[in-house]
Amino acid sequence: MTTPPTFAAPHKRIFSGVQPTGNLHLGNYLGAIRNWVTLQEGNECIYCMVDLHAITVQQDPAALRSNTREVAASLLAAGIDPKASIVFVQSQVPQHAELGWIFNCVARIGWLNRMTQFKEKAGKNRENATVGLYVYPNLMAADILVYRATHVPVGDDQRQHLELCRDIAQSFNSQYGVDYFPLAEPVIMGTATRVMSLRDGSAKMSKSDASDYTRINLVDPPDLIAQKVRKARTDPDPIPGDPAGLEARLEAKNLVGIYAALADKTPADVLREFDGAQFSKFKESLADLAIAKLSPITTEMRRLLADPGYVDGVLKDGAQRARAIAEPILKEAQDIVGFLRA
Ligand code: TRP
Repeated sequence: MTTPPTFAAPHKRIFSGVQPTGNLHLGNYLGAIRNWVTLQEGNECIYCMVDLHAITVQQDPAALRSNTREVAASLLAAGIDPKASIVFVQSQVPQHAELGWIFNCVARIGWLNRMTQFKEKAGKNRENATVGLYVYPNLMAADILVYRATHVPVGDDQRQHLELCRDIAQSFNSQYGVDYFPLAEPVIMGTATRVMSLRDGSAKMSKSDASDYTRINLVDPPDLIAQKVRKARTDPDPIPGDPAGLEARLEAKNLVGIYAALADKTPADVLREFDGAQFSKFKESLADLAIAKLSPITTEMRRLLADPGYVDGVLKDGAQRARAIAEPILKEAQDIVGFLRA
């Protein structure tokens, strides 16, 4: 018996991924992007546009390319610093797919069969879903572990995928008798806000909702933001003085939540401030606040999108730095598995 190799423990490293689906909205900003910006402070952060994941469902090639740039531009515009953090496109770092294959040979069909996102995305006609959609969680585990990342900021809907990532790491480690891949933890940020549709307080704000008036897009001009806020659904009652008064008033609760997130306050603070006010007045303040917070981002995004060469250059530099980390980790994983070194 040879003694198993030992490896230095991985240090704290943050990784997260976003689908390059374009048309980012307030929900993406308050729920994810803003937290990614905050996490940069004092942490090593790696942020990835996951185009390999995007093609698990059909994509128009030209749209995929422009959406990838657009999402990158919005991250930069929102304050992700591409010098401090690594911002890159998944397909430009082939190590993700290579480790993904190894993980396809670690994860069990039974584990994947439990994934709720696959069931939702595959819908009724599961036989017709791509194999890529089925093994999506294995690739996601590879995204994280090819950097031996320890912390992953994600929304609540990704918890199950992150559990699978830990199962894969644990199973790989025990199968090969090593302590190599960390059990990455979700970072569910206290400030993350679940932003709901402006028309239906029980549905998440979504880029795929047929009505554009359900969401505020990061590219919306100020007058459109104001109009969408004004037309947002509410109820006839005035603003209550405390959070208990928002129970069962989903639309009201959503607007107050958005205001609080944008103002960096708690909903209780906001309710104290607007106690007894009519929604028409509250909406005016909310529109002003949303415009004040979003328009610098929108302006910067437009500037960046007018200069695709610059954005592509940032991404190319990011991919280079990402590869420099991922390459030796993939090599070690391949050694552990027993592949003959080239
Ligand atoms: N599945 C994630 C989502 O839909 C995106 C993603 C892909 C991701 N790879 C990742 C998130 C790795 C965190 C870490 O939002």
